[in-house]
Amino acid sequence: MAETVPVDRRQRAQELRSQLQKASYAYYVLDAPDLPDEVYDRLYRELQDLETQYPELVTPDSPTQRVGERPASQFTALEHNIPLYSLENAFDIDEYRQWEGRWQRQTPDIDSAAVVAELKIDGNALALTYEKGLLTRGVTRGDGISGEDITQNIRTIRSIPLRLQIDNPPPRVEVRGEAFIPNDVFDRINADRQANGEALFANPRNAAAGTLRQLDSRVVAQRRLDFFAYTLLLPEGEGGLTLPQTQEDSLAALQTLGFKVNPNRKLCPTAADVAQFYDQWDEARTQLPYLTDGVVVKLNDLPLQERLGFTQKFPRWAIALKYPAEEVPTILQDMTVQIGRTGAVTPVAELAPVKLAGTTVSRATLHNADRLAELNLYKGDTVIVRKAGEIIPEVVRVLSDLRPEGAQLCQLPTHCPECGETLVRPVNEAVTRCINPSCPAIVRGDLIHWASRQALDIAGLGEKWIQQLLAQNLVSSVADLYELTVEELLSLERMGQKSAQNLVDAIAASKSQPWARVLFGLGIRHVGAVNAQLLAKQFYTVDLLATAPPEEIESVYGIGPEIAYSVYEWFQAEANKSLITRLKDKKIGVQLEGAPPSDEPTDLPMMGKTFVLTGTLPTLSRKEAKAKIEESGGKVTGSVSSKTSYVVVGVDAGSKLAKAEKLGIQRLSEDDLLTLLQQTASS
Ligand code: IVH
Repeated sequence: MAETVPVDRRQRAQELRSQLQKASYAYYVLDAPDLPDEVYDRLYRELQDLETQYPELVTPDSPTQRVGERPASQFTALEHNIPLYSLENAFDIDEYRQWEGRWQRQTPDIDSAAVVAELKIDGNALALTYEKGLLTRGVTRGDGISGEDITQNIRTIRSIPLRLQIDNPPPRVEVRGEAFIPNDVFDRINADRQANGEALFANPRNAAAGTLRQLDSRVVAQRRLDFFAYTLLLPEGEGGLTLPQTQEDSLAALQTLGFKVNPNRKLCPTAADVAQFYDQWDEARTQLPYLTDGVVVKLNDLPLQERLGFTQKFPRWAIALKYPAEEVPTILQDMTVQIGRTGAVTPVAELAPVKLAGTTVSRATLHNADRLAELNLYKGDTVIVRKAGEIIPEVVRVLSDLRPEGAQLCQLPTHCPECGETLVRPVNEAVTRCINPSCPAIVRGDLIHWASRQALDIAGLGEKWIQQLLAQNLVSSVADLYELTVEELLSLERMGQKSAQNLVDAIAASKSQPWARVLFGLGIRHVGAVNAQLLAKQFYTVDLLATAPPEEIESVYGIGPEIAYSVYEWFQAEANKSLITRLKDKKIGVQLEGAPPSDEPTDLPMMGKTFVLTGTLPTLSRKEAKAKIEESGGKVTGSVSSKTSYVVVGVDAGSKLAKAEKLGIQRLSEDDLLTLLQQTASS
C-alpha cells in the first residue's frame, strides 16, 4: 500500500512547487533570473524525490510535470471553444487608412478611436484553455474551427504557466498567442540538423510548427519554444480579475496571470502614430531575437470591438499591417541535387544571380521531393526567391504563365548522381536518400565532418584536400587518414613539403581528442556534439555503447527514443562495425574510451575555479558559456570578489570588469575561455 503523506511533507511539496514556479517565472517570463541555477536544481530534485516517495503529491501544475514520460502516438483534432479568426492584411499605410474608413462608416457616431499597435510575431498561433486556473488544453490554430490537441507539447514551453498566478481564477480562461522559436535557437537546431545530415528547417516559423507537432514532448522540451500572449477571453466571468475594458487592460491582465506579453507596443491615437510605429519597427525589428512580419493594429476599446464584430473571415476591429517579405523574381537556370553526409538528397535551384536582402543569391534550396513536386518547376521558369534574415534562400513560387515553350520539367533523379546507386525514399520520410555507404558524396561528407572543429578538429584538413585525397584514392574512410604519409600527401596538387608535414602532424594530434568528440565525429544521425557528450559520459567505452540495447541508451538523461534507436542501429551496420574494428587498431590510436564516471567529480579540470561573466560574448550565450564552464567543474557566480579566478569579458562589460581589474583578476575573452577549457579537457 502507498504510504500516507505526512502533513509536513505535503506542505514542503507545496512550498517547493511555489518557489520553483516563481523562479521559473522570473527566468522565462521576466527574463530576470532571481535564483542561482544550482539552487533551482537542488529544490527541483528535492521535489522530485518527494514526489517519487509519495506519488499522490504530484499535481498537474508541478514543475516536474512539464515533460511527458511517453511520446504520443498521434494528435487528436479538437474543436475550438471559440473560433480563431485570422487577420486581414494591409501592405502600406494607405491601405491601413482604408480599413480605418471602413470601420468608421459602420459606426457613424464614432469618428476616431485609439488603437494599440503590437508587433506581429511570425510564429504559430495557439489557443490555451485554463479551467479553475489550471492549464487543461492547448490547441494549434488548424483551420480556425478545429486544431490539434498538443497540450503535452505546450506544457514544455517554460513561458506558459501551468497554473495562473491568481488566487481566485476565472472559471475558464482562453489565452491566445504566438509560439515561436528564437532566431539563435533556430540557428542551433539547423546547425545540428546539418551536422546530422538531416533536412534543414526553412525558417523559424516552420521549425516551430514542426516542433509543436513532434510526438515526443521530450524533443519539444529541448527545442526551447517561447510564447507571447496577446488575447484574453473570459467566457464564463472574470473571477478575481477586473474585467478588461481595453486591449491594453487585457495585455496587463495577461501579464498579471503570468504570461509573457511583447513589450514592443504602443497606444496610437491617430493613423500618423500608427505609421510612425510601423516605420520605426521596420528597421528595429531586424535587431530582435525573433522574427516579426508586421504590426497588428487593434481597436483598444473592447466594447467597440464587440460592436464591430467579424466578417466571414476576419475581425473588423483589427488589421495586420505587413512588412514586405524579402522576395525577388529571377530565372531558374537549372536544378541540381546535393547529397549530404547521411545520403540525404536536397534539390537545389541554380538561379540567375539576383540581389536579395543585401546579398547576391544564385542558389536556393528546394528542400525535398515533395516540395519540388508541389512547385512543379521547369527549367527557364521565372521563380520568386525569398530570404528572411540569415536563413538560406528558398524558392517560394513560380510564375508559370511566363514559362518558355518546350521547357523541361525538373525532377529528382532516380539514381545518385555521385555513385549511380538507386535513390530510396523510406515510407513516412520526406527525405530521399542514397544508401550506398561508399558513395563518394557520403564518404566526403563523413571526412569533412570528422575533421570539423567540433569533432576531431584537424587543422588544415578542409574540403579541398579531402576532395583530392578521395580522387587519388588515398583514403576511403576516416580510418585511412591515420595511415597517410608525407610522401603520399606530396602527390596532391599544390601540396608542399611543409604543408604535408603539418597535415600529418595535425592528424596525429587529433588522436588525443576525447572520446566524446570521436563519437560525434562518427556522424551518427541525431548525435550532435551535445548528445555525443551525454552518451560518452555514461558509455565511457565504445564497446559499452556498441553493445547497448536502445532502452539502455535512452536511459541517458537528455537522450530520447529516436536518438537512442539511431545509435543502436548505427552500431548494428556491418560497415560501421568494421570501421570501429579498424579504429580500435593501436596504430590508428584515436580515443575510443574516456574516464569511467566517478561519484566524486574532483577530477574535473576546473574544479574549485570560479568564473564571472560580464558583457555580451561574441558567439556563446550566457547560458552556453555557463554550461561549458560547469561541464569542466567550474562555478559561475554573479559578482566579482577576491575569490574569483577569472572574469570572462564580452562587449559592453560593466562594473564587474572594473572591479575585477582592481582586484587584479585574470581576464579572459570568449576565445581564451574556450581554449582554456579545451586545453584542460584534453590534458
Ligand atoms: S491578434 C482575431 N496579435 O498573425 C485575430 N495576432 O495573420 C486575432 N499574430 O493568426 C489575432 N502576432 O497567429 C494577433 N500581436 C498579435 C499577433 C498575431 C502574430 C498572428 C496570429 C494570427 C496571424 C494573422
